[in-house]
Amino acid sequence: MITLNVNGKAHAIDAEPDTPLLYVLRDELGLNGAKFGCGLGQCGACTVLVDGAAVFSCLTPIALLPGRQVTTIEGLGTVDAPGPVQQAFITEQAAQCGYCIAGMVMRAQALLARSPNPTEQEIREGMNPNLCRCGTHMRILAAIRRAAASAPVQKADAR
Ligand code: FES
Ligand code: FES
Repeated sequence: MITLNVNGKAHAIDAEPDTPLLYVLRDELGLNGAKFGCGLGQCGACTVLVDGAAVFSCLTPIALLPGRQVTTIEGLGTVDAPGPVQQAFITEQAAQCGYCIAGMVMRAQALLARSPNPTEQEIREGMNPNLCRCGTHMRILAAIRRAAASAPVQKADAR
């Protein structure tokens, strides 16, 4: 049994220690925001935060996580009260199919928490690991600029 702290709640998980976090989030906890894209650390669809840093949950075994804070997109806000990064993505209509968007939001959240006023180069380099097959990158970049200009992004693990 492994205890995971996800979005501020402790969960006792009965799974093998090498089980990827992504599988536990989706299959055990019903948190379906993080997506399975490649399973190889090459697309970013599965991105979540661990202690505020963006990680590929498809490559993160749960054995590494006791005592650490996991945040998923469900922990940033709700449909009725989206967080500032989520709201910026909505305002800029950054999603086309939406498959990549939870991962994009989580990586942007981590970027803006550590660098509230990033340069264009910092945004592009920071978002580099995440891919969008629909090609909405320009709207995603606009959403991140909007979020940076609107309000300071809190460290998600402080929620
Ligand atoms: S599913 Fe994790 S990086 Fe692609
Ligand atoms: S909106 Fe479809 S993959 Fe990004």
